[in-house]
Amino acid sequence: MCGIVGYIGHREAYPIILKGLKRLEYRGYDSAGIALYDGADIKLSKTKGKVLDLEARLEKEISTKGTLGIGHTRWATHGVPNDVNSHPHYSNSGDLVIIHNGIIENYESLKKELIKRGYTFKSDTDTEVLINLIEDVKKNENTKLGKAVQIALNQVIGAYAIAVFDKNKPNEIVVARLGSPLAIGIGEDEFFIASDASPFIEYTKNAIYLEDEEMAIIRRDKGVKIRKIKDDSLVAPYIQELQLNLEQIEKGGYEHFMLKEIYEQPSAILDTFRGRLLINEAIIKMAGVEDNMKRFLNADRIIIVACGTSWHAGLVAEYIFEDLARIPVEVEYASEFRYRNPIITENDVVIAISQSGETADTLAAIKLAKSKGAFVFGVCNVVGSSIARETHAGAYTHAGPEIGVASTKAFTTQITVLTLIALRLARAKGTISSSDYRHNLIELELIPDKVKKALESDEYVKTIAAIYKDVHNFLYLGRGYNFPVALEGALKLKEISYIHAEGYPAAEMKHGPIALIDENMPIVVIATKKGHYEKVVSNIQEIKSRKGKIIGIVTEGDIQVKELADHVIEVPETIESLSPLLTTIPLQLLSYHIALMLGKNVDQPRNLAKAVTVE
Ligand code: G6P
Repeated sequence: MCGIVGYIGHREAYPIILKGLKRLEYRGYDSAGIALYDGADIKLSKTKGKVLDLEARLEKEISTKGTLGIGHTRWATHGVPNDVNSHPHYSNSGDLVIIHNGIIENYESLKKELIKRGYTFKSDTDTEVLINLIEDVKKNENTKLGKAVQIALNQVIGAYAIAVFDKNKPNEIVVARLGSPLAIGIGEDEFFIASDASPFIEYTKNAIYLEDEEMAIIRRDKGVKIRKIKDDSLVAPYIQELQLNLEQIEKGGYEHFMLKEIYEQPSAILDTFRGRLLINEAIIKMAGVEDNMKRFLNADRIIIVACGTSWHAGLVAEYIFEDLARIPVEVEYASEFRYRNPIITENDVVIAISQSGETADTLAAIKLAKSKGAFVFGVCNVVGSSIARETHAGAYTHAGPEIGVASTKAFTTQITVLTLIALRLARAKGTISSSDYRHNLIELELIPDKVKKALESDEYVKTIAAIYKDVHNFLYLGRGYNFPVALEGALKLKEISYIHAEGYPAAEMKHGPIALIDENMPIVVIATKKGHYEKVVSNIQEIKSRKGKIIGIVTEGDIQVKELADHVIEVPETIESLSPLLTTIPLQLLSYHIALMLGKNVDQPRNLAKAVTVE
């Protein structure tokens, strides 16, 4: 996820683009850059760091003159965040310049072809490949920029929102989208381009939101012409009048970042397996795993280290790895592990899970494991973060920036990555039959749509939140794969509503928590059809006979729990190992609504930090 901005019109482009980038920094903030056309040439400045760093550098480096320009704030996907990998990127001739939000999956094969044809590359990015592909098409086919962009995009697999201009045609910008957002602001003989409308809201309320597989040629003198990328057909522009204010736009129209991030999960999970889960070939492709396959296959055990929500994802992974790949797993709080004098050998594989990639305890645990000779693999969200750099190899979650302190999409995308790894290892070890393997892949591919379905419970969850918002204690119970979900559900509630909540394995209830149960205690029980269902139903009966209030998270069409529980929230059916990706959704929503009803600061709960960089 990155932020893109562009301007073509009669005003100075630089201040508009700079301010726009600052507003889009919530979309990514590891590097930034701007390219301006000054009337004769393209002037470009970019840097690792925040937009403020860019501002300091750019104003020293280049002239800020010009009424045409594009800017970018980056959330790295290919290539570490550094000056060279920052956008915009030039084509080899220096005539074309591009900004891009998204991932070009087949960039390696396109790059090889271009290298054969004499192109050279300065950066490690997929974006530089795309701009040279456009240049190559433009030259070979002798076409205009718009047509070249169209032909090039038809060769591309992946997701993108792009803006490109040609210094020889400084009257137009070409934009296109597939899978990443792109809005065009329409002014009086001036046009704005941005990932959302926040950069141009004070200049115009009229906007066109490009649909997937559409491109637009925006000309200073002639306006906007939209075409379908695939078949070149013209699309009548639909101009909307924006009703949102600035803050609402940054939050995508949601009241809070947390809610936005909860709702982003279908697309975040899709982004996590995009290009990795190749369903037709029944292949899982993850370079970090392939390159180190021997280390994984020879591992005596896997030790997972993490903190907070990431630790809960690690617990889910323990079930997945042991179940599918038959590798023994231990899950450790990084803070305990690092001080325990743990036994680590060269045959251990340590997986460190961290959204931010900066958690001090996790980082220290990694260093310790490395010093003992273990192979350390990172699962991080923030590209180029300390943990991503400190580990021997890794896989990013590609969830995009998570701003809400209470982690939501990071959790489900971590589970997605870990599932992919476990399945890949299971296949390599032969611990899964090819039909089960295929079945797992198919089910995983269906998850984004099923998460969407699970999100439909939102209104009903809100009514449950209204009933229980004033209680002082909550209990969350789950078994097997859904025990970690119970822990995560309880953590979410604690974090943002400050209500005391505990997660327990359902059967452990008898060894203590059952003493707490009376008619005032709400108990969330995850009771999906696959996985110890009958046992959980017995636990529910035990709660009922002690008058506890039961909120069941059940599989669509459930009958038994419905009869016993006070409320049931349905989630779609899936295989047991993937059920945490669905059962966690209503629990996120429940904590969100309760906190909101109690008037708490949902995105920035008291005493908590998004990244804990101290031990
Ligand atoms: C903090 C955050 C949690 C997060 C934990 C681990 O406590 O508030 O949301 O789960 O750190 O962070 P990490 O970035 O390593 O996943």
